[in-house]
Parts: sequence; structure tokens; C-alpha cells
Amino acid sequence: MSNKPFILSNKIEDKKEFEAMINKTMASFFRTIDDERAFSGINPYVLRKEINDLGFLPEKGIGFDATMEKVEKSILPNLLRTWSLSYMPHLHSPALMETISSELLIAAFNDSMDSWDQGPAATEVEEAMVHGLLSLYGYKDGADGCFTSGGSQSNISAIIAARDWYLEEKFGKDVKKRGIGEEGRLLRLYTSEISHFSMDKGCHILGLGYDAVRKIPVDERCKIDVDAFRSMVEEDIAEGLYPFAAVATIGTTDFGSIDDVKAMRIICDKYGMHLHADAAYGSGAIMSSKYRDRLGYLSLADSITIDFHKMFLLPISCSALLMKNGKKLECFELHADYLNREEDEEDGYINLVGKSMQTTRRFDALKVFMAFQTRGKDGFDEMITKVIDNADYFWSLIKDDPDFIVPVKPELSSVVFALSDGDEVNKRVRRRLLENGTVIGQTVMDGKVMLKFTLLNPNLGFSDFPVLIKKIKEYRDMEKERV
Ligand SMILES: Cc1ncc(COP(=O)(O)O)c(C=O)c1O
Repeated sequence: MSNKPFILSNKIEDKKEFEAMINKTMASFFRTIDDERAFSGINPYVLRKEINDLGFLPEKGIGFDATMEKVEKSILPNLLRTWSLSYMPHLHSPALMETISSELLIAAFNDSMDSWDQGPAATEVEEAMVHGLLSLYGYKDGADGCFTSGGSQSNISAIIAARDWYLEEKFGKDVKKRGIGEEGRLLRLYTSEISHFSMDKGCHILGLGYDAVRKIPVDERCKIDVDAFRSMVEEDIAEGLYPFAAVATIGTTDFGSIDDVKAMRIICDKYGMHLHADAAYGSGAIMSSKYRDRLGYLSLADSITIDFHKMFLLPISCSALLMKNGKKLECFELHADYLNREEDEEDGYINLVGKSMQTTRRFDALKVFMAFQTRGKDGFDEMITKVIDNADYFWSLIKDDPDFIVPVKPELSSVVFALSDGDEVNKRVRRRLLENGTVIGQTVMDGKVMLKFTLLNPNLGFSDFPVLIKKIKEYRDMEKERV
């Protein structure tokens, strides 16, 4: 084994080596980010060849400096630059600076969240942040929560908890021990036709199948049609099915539309259903004093998904699931002699593995802690209000322009629109923008190709939008001639 330092530790030579590595890494990073574009525009086949040519596992290690050279030459210039003002296709944000420092600390310590003895302060920070979040989103005593790897995992965890709880309450079934049984096959979950596909994925993983997901139509504002929801539940009950849960989307992926939690609560209460709020996108709006009311009565939901790697501008990945009745999270509790002994827990050595579907888990809560401390309520208020203002402004610029179709007024920071020249032109304009380093979104509404701005970057200002509109129209004119 080489006698060069290789594990970061408290030894002086390790510290020096690591400091040099970090300096080289930062120098490479800075050298490659002068380009304002979101993407180099490289052709995928050319990039694939270049990456494959880098090699897989050399017989003899080439050392850090030579590795960094390869990374700087072929990888960094062709990464997506999330901070670029030309990047707006997805719910995929740039990262607040202090949270990149947090990532360094998370990796350097490499603590894990499963047991207290693998992350003493990490466990306490996560618990403190969870309790702060419970109160921020209006939950009271008895609530609990856990950090997860993302909105999908938060949603799926909520569905597991809802399923187990329902089968236990209604049929006295111990799902952990005996599985979902005959009744499980008749369970139904209700969510809007434009909700995130993690609901379908979740029902597949849970053995309920896609058919268990009942898709509720949306109205012209892309919100759940509550009357249709009620009718679907009642029809299903009449057919002998078991509606066990519903999911309100608080910020749909494309439109940012927000379902009416209060109205859905009434139906869920009547039929003993768990109501989950998928606020992966919209959760950030709680920070905006101007727009927070748009979220509606979020605290009426039984559980809430919060994604910090969307509106909150934290590095991937960072999410949390909040549960109004914390006992529902016990569905994930399981004890192992080597890991989370009950006698330790009685003495205060809490082990968060009991609240999560993961075992080894990152200390993502540090990112939230450092961002919240650094920016405060005022900082987040300003950033999140700004991105919603931007969406509103862009919408106001194009809503009466005959060159564009804009079907839905934005509630959060996304605007779905199309050039009024048909699908082919819209597709080609997006592709041409991509090849020139501007990355915008593309989706489908009522069978028509639509374009999308997902505006998460608070550095974008009102003056940027007329420039973008001009560029889109220029590309439209070029592409129209070719179609
Ligand atoms: C509404 C909604 N829910 C859930 C998710 C999934 O979140 P993640 O990508 O963090 O798993 C997304 C992703 O965009 C989303 O838009």
C-alpha cells in the first residue's frame, strides 16, 4: 500500500494533503465555470465517446492530480451548470453556497443516521430540525418526521404508513408480520391525474399495483376536481373496494398547481382515509410572507413531503417526511442486536433507523441547519418570493401575446406555455435552445407539446425575460422555415 496519506484524519500530513486536493479541486472548478451557458451543447454521441475513453479501472492508480486533469478536461465542462440563468427545465435547483460547505463536512465526517453511535450530533441535529419543521408546517405534539433521500421516498414512505395503519385499524391486520392479505388487494389511493409518478411507483412497490392508483381529473386550473374525487370514492366503496388514502399535490411538477387540502380533508375524514400532502415542490412557499397563503390548509394533511432540493435551493439530495400522528412512522421500526438496542434507546441513545426505510443514511439535515442559520426567515422569504414574482411577471408578458398559448396562471414558480405554431416547432425550438446552452422544459398538456420555465433561481431578474422571449421567437422563425 502506498505510504502517501489517503484517509482524511487529524494527522498533520493528512490535513495538508487534503487541503492541497481541495485547492486543486476548487481551481479546476473555477477554471471551468466561466461559461454563462447552462450546458456546453456537446452532442451526446461525442460526449459518450469522450467519457468512455477516460477508462474504467486502471491497473495502476494514476494519482489525484492526473485524475483531476481528466475530470477537468472531459467531465466538468460538460456537466449541467444549475446556477446558470439559462437553466430552467426541471425542479432542479442551484445550490446555496453554505450548503456546498455542508456537503464537504457531511462527506468528511461520513457520519450515518441509523444509530446514535454512528452520528451523535448528527442524530440530535436531525431531530432538532425535524421538530422545527413540524412546528413550521403547523403540526403539534405527537407529530414526528424523518429526513429522506427525496420526494419520491417521502411519498412512498407516507403511503406505506397509511396502508399499514388502515389495514390495522379496519381489519386488525399486522401488515409487518403477515403482509397485506386479501383486503390489501382491494386498497385504493386517490390522487390527481397530474400528480407525481412516485404514487404509481409506490403502489407497485407495495404490491398494490398501478391499478390501485385512482387518478382524479383536474379542473382548468390543474387542481383536483373535488366533486369527482368524492364520486370516485363513493363508487369504489359501492364496488367493495377500500379507499385508504388520498394525495393532495401542493405544487404539481409541471404547473405548480395546488390542490385544496381543506376540501379533500372533509372527504378523507368521512371515509377514514389518510390524507398525504405531496409538497415536494410547494413546501418552499411557506417561507414567502407574500405567497404562503397559497398553500392552503397544509396542516390539515396527515403527512407532508418537503423537498429541500427544489425551492429551498439545497444540493441533492435532501427531503423530509412529516407525520401528524408520529406513531404511524412505527411501520419502519425493527430492532437488530448489532444496531439499535432497545435498552440504549431507553437511556436516550435514540436510533433514527426506526423511522426510515433506509438503514445507512446521510446527514442531510446539516444542510438545512446551515442554510436556515445563514439565511434566516428573511433571506428565504426574499429568495422564494422573488422566484414566484418572476413566474408571475413572465406570465404577464406572454399571456396576451398571440404568439403564445398560456393555459394556466402560475401559483408557484413554473410557467407552462407554447408557441402557437404547433408541436413540431415547439419541440425544435427547445432542442435548438439546448444546443445553444439554454435549457428549458418540455411537457404535454391535452396531447399538445408545451414548453416550460421552472424558475427556481432567484438571480433571474425581470429584465432577463424579454431577452428570453426574443430568443425563443428568433428560433421559432428559423425553425418555422424548416418544418
Ligand atoms: C410534485 C412532486 N413530487 C415528488 C417528486 C419527486 O421528488 P424527488 O425527485 O426528490 O424524488 C417530484 C419531483 O419533481 C415532484 O415534482
